Amino acid sequence: MTTAAVAGRESPAQPLDSIDVSDPAIYQQDTWHPVFARLRREAPVHYCAESPYGPYWSVTRYNDIMTVELDHATYSSQLGGIQVEDQPADMKRGSFIRMDPPRHTAQRKTVAPLATPTNLASYEVTIRERTRAVLDGLPRNETFDWVDKVSIELTTMMLATLFDFPWEERRKLTYWSDVAICNVNSPEAPVHSEEERFAELLRMADVFKGLWRERAKAPPKLDLISMMAHSEHTRDMPELEFVGNLALLIVGGNDTTRNSMSGGLLALSENPGELAKLKANPALAPSLVAETIRYQTPVIDMRRTATRDTELAGQHIRQGDKVVMWYVSGNRDETAIDNPDAFIVDRAKPRQHLSYGAGIHRCVGDRLADLQLRILWEEILARNLDIAVIGPPKRLYSNFIRGIRELPVRIRAH
Ligand code: HEM
Repeated sequence: MTTAAVAGRESPAQPLDSIDVSDPAIYQQDTWHPVFARLRREAPVHYCAESPYGPYWSVTRYNDIMTVELDHATYSSQLGGIQVEDQPADMKRGSFIRMDPPRHTAQRKTVAPLATPTNLASYEVTIRERTRAVLDGLPRNETFDWVDKVSIELTTMMLATLFDFPWEERRKLTYWSDVAICNVNSPEAPVHSEEERFAELLRMADVFKGLWRERAKAPPKLDLISMMAHSEHTRDMPELEFVGNLALLIVGGNDTTRNSMSGGLLALSENPGELAKLKANPALAPSLVAETIRYQTPVIDMRRTATRDTELAGQHIRQGDKVVMWYVSGNRDETAIDNPDAFIVDRAKPRQHLSYGAGIHRCVGDRLADLQLRILWEEILARNLDIAVIGPPKRLYSNFIRGIRELPVRIRAH
């Protein structure tokens, strides 16, 4: 058993400096809560000298995470990327989440169409239609996997809509997203080496390049690829840059929203009193969505690299050090959020959480994710679906995405 797994069961005798929260096992086993509670109490900015990913700092309190988020000049996304594990130098994937200004600023604008109110309004109609069809087609009085039939299906449909991706092949988007984020050491991963991962992502790039060329020649349409291929700001973007940014949208929009769809159902089934509140007042759906995103925290952490020597909460961080912001911990920080371990659908300030990050890299898809999740819950409530979770979730082996791989459920027909 790894050190971190032991720490996950909170062994107070364990020396603080041997705690390693980068171990994916503690997220798969869901045993991370006590170890982070201890770090927040005893060593809120904590140094792990030895891990499979090298030495790194952990930032575990809400306010310290905000400090790192907002100071992008000191904490770079470009120098070492955004994950605890460094990407091999020859297989780096370029996209603006791994860039600092000014490159980041210019490229982030290329996906701006995603968040315009007109586009969101037009997506809303399609998302609602598709959500209704998926819910109406679910089996009744029969066990099925919520992750596959609802969470993956709806998120993949959304991405296929955004890109106007060939409909019958839409599960390829799910596959590529899984490839991009998987831990290649997990037996369940879709690829088992960095080389294999890179080769698959190159295949994805080819498909998207083809779509870009087609759309550039055709009259403009409302999908993101067409919009980018025709906009004067983005149409001359080098192909590779374009592909990198589309890949970022696929990954950004896939696992995160998917796991919020599964995590929300799980949390409600564990908190029947909260479900009763929602049934009595369906107008709480937006607040439920925000609370689900905080409680689930689909992105476990983001990493930065110090550009200079600095100090954080009394700790001396050196230039070049790896600094990891653990959103899972900041979202459970009792000094920032009331009763943070409780799932409460009518919180006074439900949007006060770190799940979307903050500062210049704050999630660009936040409104779209909120929209998808709100529609899902509005439609579930409108149908008064009686959904029972009938077994424990299977969780993802990852120190980056807090994922639910399977969730067996049954809809009881009245
Ligand atoms: C519940 C759903 C989601 C969660 C929890 C989430 C979380 C995050 C987080 C934590 C970041 C990094 C923030 C930071 O470093 O401060 C991020 C960035 C990003 N997200 Fe999301 N995301 C979600 C949905 C989406 C969707 C639906 C899309 C697009 C379709 C998307 C696209 C992106 C992109 C492009 C970035 C990079 C922004 C930048 O570097 O400037 N995300 N997201």
